[in-house]
Amino acid sequence: MRWLARKYGIEIQERQLTAEEQAEQTERESLSNLATWAQKWFTAQLLETGEGKSVGLGYLRKRDFTDATLQDFAVGYCPERPWSEEGALAEAAKKAGYQEKWLLSSGLCRKRDDNSLYDFYRGRVIFPIRDVTGRFIGFGGRTLKTDKKAPKYVNSPESPLYDKSRALYGIHLSRNAIVREDRAILVEGYTDVMAMRQAGVENVVASSGTALTVEQVRLLRRFSKRMTMLFDGDPAGLRAAIRGVDIVLGEGLDVKVAVLPDGEDPDTFAKRLGKDAMVEWLAENSRDFIRFKIDLLDKEAADDPIKRTELVRSVVQSIAQVPDELKRTVYVQESAGRLGMQVEDLLAELGRQAVARLEKEAKAPLPSLTPKKDAPIGAPRLTGRVGRSGREQDLLRLLLQYGRHKITIEVPSEEAAPEGENEEPMTIEGTLAEFMIHELDMVGLAIRHPVVDRIVQHFRESIVAGHIPGPEDLGITDPEVVELTADVLVSEFTLSKNWFERHGIEPETEEQQLKRALEGALHRLLLDEARGEGYRIKARLQELSEDPSTSEDPASEEVDLLRRKIGVSKRVSKLALHFESTILHNMSAEDAKKTR
Ligand code: GTP
Ligand code: MN
Repeated sequence: MRWLARKYGIEIQERQLTAEEQAEQTERESLSNLATWAQKWFTAQLLETGEGKSVGLGYLRKRDFTDATLQDFAVGYCPERPWSEEGALAEAAKKAGYQEKWLLSSGLCRKRDDNSLYDFYRGRVIFPIRDVTGRFIGFGGRTLKTDKKAPKYVNSPESPLYDKSRALYGIHLSRNAIVREDRAILVEGYTDVMAMRQAGVENVVASSGTALTVEQVRLLRRFSKRMTMLFDGDPAGLRAAIRGVDIVLGEGLDVKVAVLPDGEDPDTFAKRLGKDAMVEWLAENSRDFIRFKIDLLDKEAADDPIKRTELVRSVVQSIAQVPDELKRTVYVQESAGRLGMQVEDLLAELGRQAVARLEKEAKAPLPSLTPKKDAPIGAPRLTGRVGRSGREQDLLRLLLQYGRHKITIEVPSEEAAPEGENEEPMTIEGTLAEFMIHELDMVGLAIRHPVVDRIVQHFRESIVAGHIPGPEDLGITDPEVVELTADVLVSEFTLSKNWFERHGIEPETEEQQLKRALEGALHRLLLDEARGEGYRIKARLQELSEDPSTSEDPASEEVDLLRRKIGVSKRVSKLALHFESTILHNMSAEDAKKTR
């Protein structure tokens, strides 16, 4: 692990936990115990106390939630006017042995000026938030007052237990349905998830009032690569939609957007329509994200040329997120028609954006990638060998061509080993395919190109079964696989001999070259991933500075983003250093010709 970590510039925790880390772990456990207890307490208040039954349960019944739904979601109530001091959570928790500091850091209680505690969720219906395995990690509380001064919802603060960027409301109930339907439906509110499930649409989760995060999308991707985002028709809902779409696209998911009729939210809509009509409505009204974005922005832009330029940029930016090249081409064609523009102009813009991104990426100046004016559609391979999909195809090429080649990898002997002791370095022998797949899995790197992903998965399964496929036995019946492998193998990843000579580098054995090629290909993917994240952080920071109202808590989100940004630049510079000290394996077209 240490060796892999150094290789990929990843920090691993290999020491004993420091006192601080141990404290954090203890804190998480304490908070978890408290949350489990608090959920039971809230539910008991709802079902067994006078105030809970009349106020809390009364409200939920009026909203037509059934007992089964309330039970599924473990809904509770926090009394406003407990029948005694003991009737408050603060007192009951202390009596049950929970320390005051956890009551405060969990956000369940707050301190009055006289140092006594009061319940933060007083007079609110409680929606417990659970992790993917169903453990209680936080709470959302809805006020029952119409008074505009109190926030409608209050939520648990971030803590070692509750990381809201990773939390998805309803995920532990809906994960099976998401797998079964091979689609997740994303809504905004707690009650939306509940009402849809009650109506019989079960593959639903909510991001709980915060803008969708990359982590949430990655969590969902484990269950399905297809998503429908369901939004209220109001402007705020639509703004959130646009923001979320690019994140989802960037993670390689297939995303559709459905906008509800004015004045409806998924809750009212599901209750009014019921399951069948809802499913039918979704099928008819889910639009492709490109169509959605164009329709939406088209109205705003109207005849304003500056706004139209922005619209085009923004549509192209979304298209650029799509990892699949063929899909991208189709989108370009379609958008051109809808925007009333020439396909070439959109391709040029796509090219400009790709070049701008690449120029930032590479230190060396790049060959011109701007598509030719008269190039037929699909011809300008903006990402052939560059960009995410190109890099994945580089991996595929290595895998297909050299998958069965034996490689021996030396595990460096420990720095900790005593001086002068000449230990034999440990070596591991295996095939290139085994190492590649092992390392992809070790660093948790997901292949986004759907066909490459399918082929890698095929290798993975074959390796487990004890055999390594070659290009000839790859599921010849699958036209997509055939097309891609043909494409990839035509532009062979030739290991050049004169190339090394030209650079005055010792000729390497084929095996050494293979190792370097594999390492380079993997590193480049990781570099991409880190840069993509860096780009999204930057964009969000920019957005946050322009419109702080897009965040619940702009100050702490900014701190959080900046911290992540530092982490990313550390990763990027470590990987970039790797490229300075090793040889780049991308051969120019010239080299390829010479060696063929
Ligand atoms: P109901 O009004 O009970 O149907 O709730 P809702 O879930 O439909 O609420 P709404 O559509 O207004 O908001 C969607 C989600 O945003 C909620 O479920 C909350 O997670 C979040 N949210 C709404 N209002 C607030 C607020 O005032 N503060 C915070 N922190 N979150 C809110
Ligand atoms: Mn609602």
